[in-house]
Amino acid sequence: MTSGLTRRTLLRGVLAGAAVGSAAACDDGSAPRLGVTPEPTPVTLPTGTLTFPPGFGWGAATSAYQVEGAVRADGRGVSIWDTFSHTPGRTRNGDTGDVAADHYHRYAQDVALMRELGLTSYRFSIAWPRILPHGTGTPNQKGLDFYRRLVDALRAAGIAPMVTLFHWDLPQALQDKGGWENRDCAEWFAEYASVCFRALNDVVPVWLTINEPKTIVDVGYTYGVHAPGKRDPRAAWTALHHLLLAHGMAVKAYRDSGGAGRIGPALNLAPAYPADGTHEAAAAARYADGMENRRFLDPILRGDYPSDVVTAEAAMRKSIRDGDLGIISTPIDLLAVQYYNPVYVSGGGEHVTLKPTSDASWQQIYPEGLYDVLVRVKRDYGDIPIVITENGRPRADELVGGKVNDPERIAFLRDHLAAAHLAIQAGVRLESYHLWSLLDNYEWAEGYGQRWGIVYVDYPTQRRIPKASAEWYKGVIATNTISR
Ligand code: FCB
Repeated sequence: MTSGLTRRTLLRGVLAGAAVGSAAACDDGSAPRLGVTPEPTPVTLPTGTLTFPPGFGWGAATSAYQVEGAVRADGRGVSIWDTFSHTPGRTRNGDTGDVAADHYHRYAQDVALMRELGLTSYRFSIAWPRILPHGTGTPNQKGLDFYRRLVDALRAAGIAPMVTLFHWDLPQALQDKGGWENRDCAEWFAEYASVCFRALNDVVPVWLTINEPKTIVDVGYTYGVHAPGKRDPRAAWTALHHLLLAHGMAVKAYRDSGGAGRIGPALNLAPAYPADGTHEAAAAARYADGMENRRFLDPILRGDYPSDVVTAEAAMRKSIRDGDLGIISTPIDLLAVQYYNPVYVSGGGEHVTLKPTSDASWQQIYPEGLYDVLVRVKRDYGDIPIVITENGRPRADELVGGKVNDPERIAFLRDHLAAAHLAIQAGVRLESYHLWSLLDNYEWAEGYGQRWGIVYVDYPTQRRIPKASAEWYKGVIATNTISR
């Protein structure tokens, strides 16, 4: 195992200290304006048969390092996740993504499976080190060819590709030059993105820039539980600014490439609720909302960092140059939202557990939070088209008599879809839903211990066995409805 901290476990001390500061700052006599509907007035999820709008997109998501394997095939370079996972003590059981679900070799079979389920959209990521093995320089044609083959197979199956440019597998050669702490990394990313646009613009309608900058900076730079494994909050703030800059530069590069499709970021948003009725808890929740949501949404959609969470950060201020926020807020076409859990915050800034959790201890299950997040984006940031690009839960799935029965996953997906449906009724421009994940896969520092797929992967044989949830999802897609 890695350390006492599991993924996304919060550094309570860090947040607690900051929240106390923000409580004082908010204490201006007016009631604190919370970013989301506070508990205890949760929305009531609808029951009965719920029909989604015609053309609503039904998808599933994966990412390159988590499913592809084949880490040495066809000239792929080394990524920070190869380095990290091969460092003793960093991942559960020393698990690595060397083989994962072997999707690199089995993509055709996996696309056939998606077609069988009726998916209309598939979200996957391109591995930067397959395209530019050293991060910059001459593109590796064999890497580009793989993604062309995958996209062609998807299109032939009537499935729209949705491509994430960066899902955490930074080329190690760039980490050796400072990675996201180096401002140049934003330029390197834009160059890499341009290579992808040139190669695939004709067949990719939707691009996503950076997956979950929050997880990168919190888990990779503050807690040290993900690659690159730093425990340096100041580096985290620097990396955050450069990640957002990279996002903006890639959006600009997309416009320059003449791409006729759409582009946006993939943000994991979490509603932050006060854990009790005190003023202190309300103020601490407001600060947590800044950390969870506003420090990404504000710069991208409003061209400004939220002053209550960012201005005190000297490291961050030093990284910001004139014009950066204009680049970061280059208009986007859509927002990809990933939702797993809410956070509940006490007056002391502690993140507390008030809801049942899944097999991932960080995941409190609260479907109503998805509604709150979606409606809040519309209310505070405008009527932007939204796609849900991740939502799901892990489970200790087992094959019994050749089958996997996962009723908790079905209930989770159904309830979150009810929340999404309600948000659509409330006027949110939600276009599609991608569950996490199509396949069981390599769950980062948790290795293969957590199964997140609707399709079971028997790793020794690489056999794919659709779980009960896959059958259920197939029915949802076929009827465009859920029933609860
Ligand atoms: C998200 C990641 C994804 C996967 C799920 C469980 O934060 O984007 O790769 O690990 O969590």
